[in-house]
Amino acid sequence: MAERNHDIDLKAAINAISDVVQNRPRPIRQMDQIYMKTGDMVLQSHLVAHWAKDKQLAFIGDGDAISVCVAYLRERGIIEYGPSRIDVYDFDERIVGAVTRFADKMRLETLQAHLYNCLDAFPVNTVYDAFYTNPPWGASNNGVSVEVFTQRGMEAIGYDGEGMVVIADDDGLEWTQRVLANTQRFAIASGFYVSKMMPRRHLYHLDDDPDLMSCNLLLRSLPGTIPPMASESITDLSRLEHFYGRSQHLRVRYIREKKRLDYGMAHEDEYCFELLEENL
Ligand SMILES: C[S@@+](CC[C@H](N)C(=O)[O-])C[C@H]1O[C@@H](n2cnc3c(N)ncnc32)[C@H](O)[C@@H]1O
Repeated sequence: MAERNHDIDLKAAINAISDVVQNRPRPIRQMDQIYMKTGDMVLQSHLVAHWAKDKQLAFIGDGDAISVCVAYLRERGIIEYGPSRIDVYDFDERIVGAVTRFADKMRLETLQAHLYNCLDAFPVNTVYDAFYTNPPWGASNNGVSVEVFTQRGMEAIGYDGEGMVVIADDDGLEWTQRVLANTQRFAIASGFYVSKMMPRRHLYHLDDDPDLMSCNLLLRSLPGTIPPMASESITDLSRLEHFYGRSQHLRVRYIREKKRLDYGMAHEDEYCFELLEENL
């Protein structure tokens, strides 16, 4: 009998997430792309599917591909519920392309991806019910990068609804506590409150700190919150300093895809064939 976790078939879920992981472009470390580990992706996708059931959900950045997992698990019948619509906004064309191609191939009709840099005003064509972000964690800017992504999420839902912010959480690291406090302060100042905090939930493929974990910080708008202002581009470059870590400022508008790759396969420039001797 298949091993079960709550109400999902764990083996089928892990195999489905494995398809998604095969499709992820390789992470660019200087842009803080650090991918979540597969076991945590299974549990996180299950949680997000439940949390955003029947909602229109916007992802502000999603290298991890939780958006894809949520849509795919539902399409495969492994989870019977989920968001009614999922839109991914990311400045990496490789990620946008990989999500779009996977959605086309697997006929994930609820899932779309858009090229977008969070320093630009958020496009106002759709108002979502909920947002999800796993932003750059702001180790070297006291969490300003977390605030920028969270602000775009709040704009995406018109300051009315819920958000899930996934950020570092480690009792032994002062900067993570400072960023957590600043993010909560920012949320309250923006008309939201922390409805739940799920500590130390996820691990990452992070070679210089493999034990660093993240939490889920769940935000909810206070009834009657009035948006502070219309969405605008960020022109104050000081907000973009140390965005991705010490001296890693935000100066890239888009990461462009040079060559369309099948990410699950070896690339031709990674290997060559040394042939057998002819007389064999
Ligand atoms: C910075 S990473 C944070 C770590 C996370 N675990 C991940 O790798 O997805 C989050 C996502 O935000 C995207 N991103 C980074 N800077 C961005 C920007 N300025 N605008 C929009 N998306 C951005 C990255 O491409 C990535 O997919």
